[in-house]
Amino acid sequence: MLFLSSKMHLLFIFATISSAWALDCTQIQDSQIFNASRIFIPGGDGSLQPLPAHFNCLYTIKAPANSTSGYSANVVLRNGIRGVNDVIYVVDLQGKNYIMNNKTGIGGEPYEYVLPPGTQMSIQVITKSVFMNSMFSVTVEYHAAKIGPTIEMKTNGEMNFIDVSTMREEGYLYATVTLIGLEPIYWSLSSSGHNGVLDCYDCYVIDGTINNMTRIQTLNYAISIRPNDNLSNAVTFMTCVDDFFPVVLNPKSELDQVEILMAPSVAVEHMFASPIGMRNMEPGYVLVQEIVNFDWPGIVMTNLKIISPVCKAYVISGPPNNSSTILLDLANATVPTVFGRQYFSFLNVDCEFECTLKQFKII
Ligand SMILES: *[C@@H]1O[C@H](CO)[C@@H](O)[C@H](O)[C@H]1NC(C)=O
Ligand SMILES: *[C@@H]1O[C@H](CO)[C@@H](O)[C@H](O)[C@H]1NC(C)=O
Ligand SMILES: *[C@@H]1O[C@H](CO)[C@@H](O)[C@H](O)[C@H]1NC(C)=O
Ligand SMILES: *[C@@H]1O[C@H](CO)[C@@H](O)[C@H](O)[C@H]1NC(C)=O
Ligand SMILES: *[C@@H]1O[C@H](CO)[C@@H](O)[C@H](O)[C@H]1NC(C)=O
Ligand SMILES: *[C@@H]1O[C@H](CO)[C@@H](O)[C@H](O)[C@H]1NC(C)=O
Ligand SMILES: *[C@@H]1O[C@H](CO)[C@@H](O)[C@H](O)[C@H]1NC(C)=O
Ligand SMILES: *[C@@H]1O[C@H](CO)[C@@H](O)[C@H](O)[C@H]1NC(C)=O
Repeated sequence: MLFLSSKMHLLFIFATISSAWALDCTQIQDSQIFNASRIFIPGGDGSLQPLPAHFNCLYTIKAPANSTSGYSANVVLRNGIRGVNDVIYVVDLQGKNYIMNNKTGIGGEPYEYVLPPGTQMSIQVITKSVFMNSMFSVTVEYHAAKIGPTIEMKTNGEMNFIDVSTMREEGYLYATVTLIGLEPIYWSLSSSGHNGVLDCYDCYVIDGTINNMTRIQTLNYAISIRPNDNLSNAVTFMTCVDDFFPVVLNPKSELDQVEILMAPSVAVEHMFASPIGMRNMEPGYVLVQEIVNFDWPGIVMTNLKIISPVCKAYVISGPPNNSSTILLDLANATVPTVFGRQYFSFLNVDCEFECTLKQFKII
């Protein structure tokens, strides 16, 4: 009995030492990834953990996703590097590199990263031969994500548009939607009279699908993807906020037909007037602006003011297309004019004008 208990005592001491000094390089296991799971690296309770000398571990942190479900991750990194030669290398979800050492924010505010579903980042922690009492800690929190649907781009001169925020569901932080077509897809985030343009730091746009990302950009950075970019035939939007997220999309051929310049699209809202001001300053080009009521068919135009001495500008029935019909010639239009449709485009050949657009309930 005596012998056994002293052996257990020894084992206990050994275990305590090993967790404090002989950190291994354990990665997050698949079984640890579930909704509301919280993981501390390298163990502990989220507070700074001591690092031994000669430590070198590359932690890969994944927010997994397939075409139907997935997880996002909130990652909090605390920097407690003291040794002048000890270092933490971070590679974020876009592949950008950051170096943290005993000069960069040690002991200060933690660094926070959000990994939307289908992305990953890495954190490499390195200490040199001399023990310098360096520390670090990473806390990862997983949230269920709603992936999909995948929607086919409409053809036949129909307008493609979506309010991405309608994909959000109770209990899921991120929601995504993928638009897929037979040609590269261009899109613009619509501005609205009320909110301007959505400002969401953690919303993302992927060129491609969740399973095949060619490029991922924050919404604020991407804002709109115009011709000249080489794009795949799919685009995926990811949101984590309830705010109105209106997008208008065009297959490449719609913009290739004539010398078209696209102005960012406009969302016509319920309670608020969208002021439109348009002037074509590029002779030889046609300036196009797509207008969508994201809620229902019915748009009314008021306060039309032609500013230029001549005006060649039209309201056409859909996205720019050489077979779309002219609904209104702005040169001799009278307002208010009600359009019993959900969308149209301004096609500005040579005109400077202003007007106001609002949603209209057709009874
Ligand atoms: C996606 O992942 C979930 C959970 O990990 C799994 O239940 C589901 O079958 C997967 N779906 C596909 C299409 O792979
Ligand atoms: C960083 O390293 C230098 C050189 O060893 C040392 O003088 C300094 O005190 C260290 N800074 C912190 C915050 O530990
Ligand atoms: C233009 O619209 C017509 C129908 O209005 C459609 O048949 C045609 O495919 C469209 N062309 C392009 C290039 O989108
Ligand atoms: C995920 O966990 C949170 C917090 O416990 C909960 O509110 C939410 O409903 C859960 N979501 C799912 C999809 O289970
Ligand atoms: C276009 O594709 C090439 C090769 O895939 C890539 O190197 C380049 O960065 C892409 N351009 C843009 C604007 O994404
Ligand atoms: C991923 O997307 C690229 C660009 O569209 C495409 O060339 C490639 O074949 C796709 N890969 C898979 C596995 O689908
Ligand atoms: C319309 O555009 C298509 C595709 O660019 C082109 O083939 C066709 O000739 C055009 N039609 C007219 C009437 O301009
Ligand atoms: C509007 O003006 C255009 C020429 O600018 C003309 O072809 C058209 O018939 C006019 N429409 C009306 C309703 O006066």
